[in-house]
Amino acid sequence: MKTITDSNTKANTMNSFEKWGVTPHVLTLENSIIREILKLSSQPGVISFAGGLPAPEMFPEADLKEASIRACDTYHDRALQYSISMGVPEFRTAIAEFVKEQVPDINAENVLITSGSQQGLDIVARAFISPGDYIICEAPTYVGALQAFNFYQAKYETVDMDDQGMITEQLEAKVKKFKPKFIYVVPNFQNPSGITMSLKRRIQLVEIANKYDIPVVEDNPYGELRFEGEPMPSLTQLGGNTIITLMTFSKICAPGFRIAWLIAPEDIMPVFEKVKQGGDLHTSTFSQYVMLEYLKMGKLNDHIKKIIKCYGARRDVMIKAMDEYFPSEAKYVKPDGGLFLWLTLPKGMSGKDLLPKAIGEKVAYVYGAPFFPNGGGEDTLRLNFSNASDENIIEGIKRLGKIIKDNM
Ligand SMILES: Cc1ncc(COP(=O)(O)O)c(C=O)c1O
Repeated sequence: MKTITDSNTKANTMNSFEKWGVTPHVLTLENSIIREILKLSSQPGVISFAGGLPAPEMFPEADLKEASIRACDTYHDRALQYSISMGVPEFRTAIAEFVKEQVPDINAENVLITSGSQQGLDIVARAFISPGDYIICEAPTYVGALQAFNFYQAKYETVDMDDQGMITEQLEAKVKKFKPKFIYVVPNFQNPSGITMSLKRRIQLVEIANKYDIPVVEDNPYGELRFEGEPMPSLTQLGGNTIITLMTFSKICAPGFRIAWLIAPEDIMPVFEKVKQGGDLHTSTFSQYVMLEYLKMGKLNDHIKKIIKCYGARRDVMIKAMDEYFPSEAKYVKPDGGLFLWLTLPKGMSGKDLLPKAIGEKVAYVYGAPFFPNGGGEDTLRLNFSNASDENIIEGIKRLGKIIKDNM
């Protein structure tokens, strides 16, 4: 039987969708450009800096196997049964304890377990966005957040970034003018730019959010992956009263479990609970109990240290290769952590136009434009350094350097 996605021409696809009565705005949603590029970059021999994947060799496989056995032995049928929408109570308590240094003065009541932070973004969007509502975000911003918000027909007002993060000096005027439903930021080692928001800018953001009583969605999947420098306080630590924080095990443990959490003031939690319930009833009970047992084994902090060492070394290899093979007109910001390096190409060069040439030379990246919801960023691209060996990083950067130079 032919499936919907098998339909071979756009016209046929549109016709069959129309016959099925798919909501018009859903038809206008674009596929994630990253997924499209990942398809291209999965061809044999391609060195890919395109994804945002953790290094698979770093997964704590043996410990997770042990945690899975412990979950079965300890919780028996409870680990296999339906559970409550907010998450397994013991696990919510364990998460509140795990994050207490970054998000102080919270307890299990402030924690909602989600199926990945991607679901956290969807829950926030469903709770807040009506068609045409404005969201303020950084430019560039995480393309997956745009995908989540686009579904609810959000509009965007963007705030530029420099090497200190969102230029919050632009923020207040935009808040007054656009009356956004929330402000979305990735303050630590941002995807895609790798930039971390400075303390001054964080304080300014919190002041504006408090003054206008606007929620801030602080998406923080990378905060623990700091290679150097001092950790920055979270927006809650800085006195933010309206902060919704998203955190995840995807980058510090393994994304396959789809275990993440949303932290918010207690009075908004019943809203998120209802939204979560309508979405998937609850996050996988078994995954929650496995991660609970893994936390109880006390190995996560050492594991994070191992990842930091591995990714920090890979970042250094990439930077050294860029310094050697890229023309000086190509500029990058050195990230203090995370998974990504952000490149600004020599003047007039387009990351999109360069990509087919790069794929031809068997190296892949994600070009920058899709990370800018209101346009711009044509001369930028994102490079992931966590998921390639040192040899591949050097060879891939060498190939890319030649392509950039040849096109100058
Ligand atoms: C900024 C940001 N938010 C959210 C996510 C989604 O993470 P999860 O795997 O927890 O759904 C990602 C994944 O790359 C991300 O980079």
